[in-house]
Amino acid sequence: MERPAWAPRSIDISVPSVSRMYDYYLGGSHNFEVDREAARKAMEFMPGLPKIMQANRAFMRRAVRFAAAEGITQFLDIGSGIPTFGNVHEVARAAAPDARVMYVDHDPVAVAHSQAVLQGTDGAGILAADLRKPGEILNSPELLRLIDLNRPVALLLVAILHFVEDADDPYAAVTELREALAPGSMLVLTHASYDGIPLPPERAEGAVDVYQNIRNPLIMRTRDEIARFFEGYDMVEPGLVPMPRWRPDTAPEDEDPYAFSGFAGVGRTA
Ligand SMILES: C[S@@+](CC[C@H](N)C(=O)[O-])C[C@H]1O[C@@H](n2cnc3c(N)ncnc32)[C@H](O)[C@@H]1O
Repeated sequence: MERPAWAPRSIDISVPSVSRMYDYYLGGSHNFEVDREAARKAMEFMPGLPKIMQANRAFMRRAVRFAAAEGITQFLDIGSGIPTFGNVHEVARAAAPDARVMYVDHDPVAVAHSQAVLQGTDGAGILAADLRKPGEILNSPELLRLIDLNRPVALLLVAILHFVEDADDPYAAVTELREALAPGSMLVLTHASYDGIPLPPERAEGAVDVYQNIRNPLIMRTRDEIARFFEGYDMVEPGLVPMPRWRPDTAPEDEDPYAFSGFAGVGRTA
């Protein structure tokens, strides 16, 4: 297989990657046949996956604009993925020209591509690090150069926590991050869920199995389990809701909101 310039030598391009599958769902071009094959297999079970991903991205942009309108100018986006249309720094900068954005991902392709996109962009950077080790993120010189932890930060954990298994204690990681952030900080989160899903369970399970098979298990959590990530935050209206229902720009489509198989919410610390 030919290795394109954007794929670092260190990565095994014969194994599907979650971030490249996501890029494929969103119509991007930074993916390989192995990724497309795995993504298509998941779509056999859940044909709505690209739509779900687009709703996730659209929520993220609305939440970034909301945070900027509330005066937040610092963004920490963990699990930022392969840059695509309407990235956090672009959306944030449109609302607050001095906004600073630290992207974090543990996937080498996401990191390499982010580096390329961000070259020459002041006030935005990418850090190769793991959500499961929040201390390494919070103490990294790259982060401290960009983000002043004494001022409020919008922490984005968008479509990442469902890749962190309970054995790795995602709740502890989210708590450690919250405790490091200044009062008035926000948590912007989406998470996959079976709650209310209008699919027979075996179909949804089939999509999950695809991720299981590529050793990136997708952990479906209930709405209550997802709500627990907001411990210590006050929920911003309308609370934890299906993604298209969070402060939509236009009237939401007349479609079962649970077809989106996930929840979105924003919280703020006092
Ligand atoms: C589905 S993408 C979401 C991208 C972006 N946040 C969005 O919603 O458009 C999930 C990203 O999380 C990253 N990721 C998964 N587990 C991670 C971890 N433990 N630490 C850092 N990044 C992680 C993956 O590499 C991938 O790029």
